[in-house]
Amino acid sequence: MAEKERNDDSTGKFEGKPGHGKRILLRTFGCQMNEYDSELVTAILLSAGFSFVDSEDLADVILLNTCSVRDNAQRKIFGLVHEIRHRAGGRDLLVGILGCLAGHWKEDLVGNPRWRIDFAVGPDQYNDLPRIIANAAGHKQDVFAFEFSDEELYEGIYPARVEGVNAWIAVTRGCDNFCSYCIVPYARGRERSRSIKSILDEARRLAKDGFKQVTLLGQNVNSYQYDGVDFADLLAEVSRIDGIRRIRFMSPHPKDFSEKLMALVAANPKICKHMHFPMQSGNTRILKKMNRTYTKTGYLQKVKMIRGYCPDIALTTDVIVGFPTETDAEFEDTYDVMRRVEFDAAFIFKYSPRKGTLAERKYPDDVPPEIKTERIVRLNALQKEMSLKKNQAMIGRIEEVVIEVDTTKKSDQDAQGRTESNKIVILPPGDYHQGDFVSVKIKSATPHVVRGIISNN
Ligand code: SAH
Ligand code: SF4
Ligand code: F3S
Repeated sequence: MAEKERNDDSTGKFEGKPGHGKRILLRTFGCQMNEYDSELVTAILLSAGFSFVDSEDLADVILLNTCSVRDNAQRKIFGLVHEIRHRAGGRDLLVGILGCLAGHWKEDLVGNPRWRIDFAVGPDQYNDLPRIIANAAGHKQDVFAFEFSDEELYEGIYPARVEGVNAWIAVTRGCDNFCSYCIVPYARGRERSRSIKSILDEARRLAKDGFKQVTLLGQNVNSYQYDGVDFADLLAEVSRIDGIRRIRFMSPHPKDFSEKLMALVAANPKICKHMHFPMQSGNTRILKKMNRTYTKTGYLQKVKMIRGYCPDIALTTDVIVGFPTETDAEFEDTYDVMRRVEFDAAFIFKYSPRKGTLAERKYPDDVPPEIKTERIVRLNALQKEMSLKKNQAMIGRIEEVVIEVDTTKKSDQDAQGRTESNKIVILPPGDYHQGDFVSVKIKSATPHVVRGIISNN
């Protein structure tokens, strides 16, 4: 169901609720965890009587769910708020900041009118949002809520999702790893795991609602622990739910990646044979400075263990280039690991200092921008070659594909689906419906997608 349709105000059942008559536009930035949180926020606000719109012109309240993981986030959001204000002219409009930037921007935000932000709410206080919006609308004082909570897990709230194939489920919140470059532990507070019951209830309800795939989310998802249940046990439980045909998870941390987990992934047909396995650097000294707690050899050993169980598994990764003091020779270690592992895809970032992190406080950002650029260009070129090679190896294979973008026979638009290994597959126009599982013979490949046709045998 579309968000707009979901708020049936015609019955008058929202009379007297804080959101009655108020229309929200919600925009989400950052990772899947923020997408999930936006779905939570939507559910919280719908039950408080707010309705949702798709355009700025129609909105009474604009919510920006923000990310602060890399450079310039604050400046970008600040710019966006000014553009929104400009477009709104002088009309009454509330603009609020949610998410990972909210708490981080705290000192600056509170009582500083130049940001032109009416309220801000951090990731652990979304239950307070209806009250805070009402305060902002009434020009009251209490409009900032940034406290972290070691308990807030939003159990019992069923996020309001847009129909599709996949649904996110956050199984942990926060992060305790304190990788030295990373803002997330400061933006989202301490790590905590949801009860297995609430996760399974949510997954069962998703299956009933027609979702075919769930993706379990956590910053360090494989450190999930609840009452003696670990992440592998949780996955096994989720896989018993009828109707859920594919299970994914992200992101596992190499340090907590156990053989028990891998044995389950290999043996369980519902768990997708794709692993996002963030490396960050291939050099042991840099990894130590990053506080990743594994070495180059340790990382390669885990990859070997993974492939030992599942030789054809697709592997993807995250890499940072130009971490403080990274020398040319140390960068070559990253290049070397990427060449040896042959990832299916890699997300490669230039290091950017994040205020308050250990790296920002202790290590000057001393790798010149042009060297960072040179390194990222080299790694991207290498990865493009590897991705093409991996995709070309699929040619001739028959793959099970779930349709994500449907078309009809009459349309001249291609359909789009996804393999278990998370590859995007383009299909010629046909009578496909979102959520259909079809057999596809792969015919051609580029570094980013493969093309195929329906196979009848
Ligand atoms: N929890 C996830 C990643 C969260 S952030 C994990 O541990 O894998 C997503 C990615 O952004 C990280 O994997 C890292 O590669 C990148 N990143 C985080 N902080 C960064 C920084 N200060 N500069 C550049 N890239 C960064
Ligand atoms: Fe950041 Fe490290 Fe936590 Fe990932 S594991 S969110 S990179 S601190
Ligand atoms: Fe995600 Fe960005 Fe927050 S990557 S956890 S939205 S800082």
